[in-house]
Amino acid sequence: MTGTAPTAPKANPVRRNEPKPVNTAKGQALYNKARRLIPGGTQLLSKRPEMFLPGGWPNYAARAKGAEVSDLDGNTFIDMSICGIGATVLGYADPDVDGAVKAVIDAGSMTTLNAPEEVELAELLVELHPWARMARFSRAGGEAMAIAVRIARAATGKQMIAFCGYHGWHDWYLSANLADDSALDGHLLSGLAPKGVPRGLKGLMHPFHYNDLAALKAIAQTHQDNLAAIVMEPVRNMPAPGFLEGVRQVANETGAVLLFDEVTAGFRINTGGIHLTLGVEPDLAVFAKAMGNGYPISAVIGREKIMSAAQDTFISSTAWTERIGSTAAVATIKKFRDNNVAKHLVRMGERVMAGWKAAAEAAKLPVAVDGIAPLAHLSFKIPNPKPAMTLFTQLMLDRGYLARDGFYAMYAHTDAHVDGFIAACEDCFGIIAGAVKAGRVEQELRGPVAHAGFQRLT
Ligand SMILES: Cc1ncc(COP(=O)(O)O)c(C=O)c1O
Repeated sequence: MTGTAPTAPKANPVRRNEPKPVNTAKGQALYNKARRLIPGGTQLLSKRPEMFLPGGWPNYAARAKGAEVSDLDGNTFIDMSICGIGATVLGYADPDVDGAVKAVIDAGSMTTLNAPEEVELAELLVELHPWARMARFSRAGGEAMAIAVRIARAATGKQMIAFCGYHGWHDWYLSANLADDSALDGHLLSGLAPKGVPRGLKGLMHPFHYNDLAALKAIAQTHQDNLAAIVMEPVRNMPAPGFLEGVRQVANETGAVLLFDEVTAGFRINTGGIHLTLGVEPDLAVFAKAMGNGYPISAVIGREKIMSAAQDTFISSTAWTERIGSTAAVATIKKFRDNNVAKHLVRMGERVMAGWKAAAEAAKLPVAVDGIAPLAHLSFKIPNPKPAMTLFTQLMLDRGYLARDGFYAMYAHTDAHVDGFIAACEDCFGIIAGAVKAGRVEQELRGPVAHAGFQRLT
């Protein structure tokens, strides 16, 4: 074992015995200013306060450590939500990763020469994924997906993409909605308008739903001579028996590149791509998020013949050469591997999933709990679930927790965190069930209902 293990916290250091509304005035004022200066208020849809608790969410972090985040108003919360949007898999301000990063900052993180750590990172990734021989690096998940799709098109000389799920904001992906404005519905973010995406890209993207092999086969049959890639996450929920093997076979038969998007799924239940556990090898795989514990770094790995096409098409950026991203990734992966972090993430996720179910049962509140354990998801199975989820966030905030419909486990989460969280969920589910029964959910809210999906703010 190397690195610093999570320390057991003092018993529920943040949890409030007496729930009380938190004052987030400074956070609200700054966000109101941001909305005038920054279209959409934030750089990531999933960090919009309107998606959590409009007018009440703490909005901005002043500092964070382990599983705790402090806001601008001096409140500290235990984060039991989607934790750094799934990037901080070890925990906030991890001492080992930050130590390695600080060392390269002091050594000079950007020069005219290259970062030696990127070679070490490439070596580490191909060692973890023996089917792959080469790697390229960028800084964001969607960016790496755009690179991978370009490589697939360059390698095959073909244009069509069969896809399933969400893969970022770039033109290649949003162009799916040029063909049919419901093409992206059911792929995590519905209703994304392709405004600004050149109409010339129309007709290149062909959606299929996860576990629907027949739909993929139909696309393959129609476009087999021009199918460049099959692009998908290997897992959201678990694959039906034979589904991934069937996808692999379609790729083999058509010559399409099988591209697994491991941006969110990677480094959760094993060290590396979740496909290693599922036993199906792609031709390209993309990593981001957890790989750098929150520092910007993403990777495309793949078979030599396909990756070599990156030399025949121009893929190049100054920002991809700095040293912090690759250093953070090497330190994160080593700590992840050496401490069997995946085992801890799975156990924390399983405990939260079981706790949600038991708390909901006790409160007689119908819920569904799904996802893989380290990326657990909760939904209320009632006629109008959004106000109830907003109320859950409000009630949990009053008790010292950041919480919503998902729990993304971190190595910094401990059993004491989960115990306190589940106790608070029991409390809140009881209140929500009572409000649902009395038809008073919206009256219990101190602000508007949170919204899901993409929409204009003002
Ligand atoms: C599966 C998947 N692909 C791509 C992306 C885009 O990554 P990024 O937000 O780093 O650009 C995400 C982000 O949530 C994702 O979940």
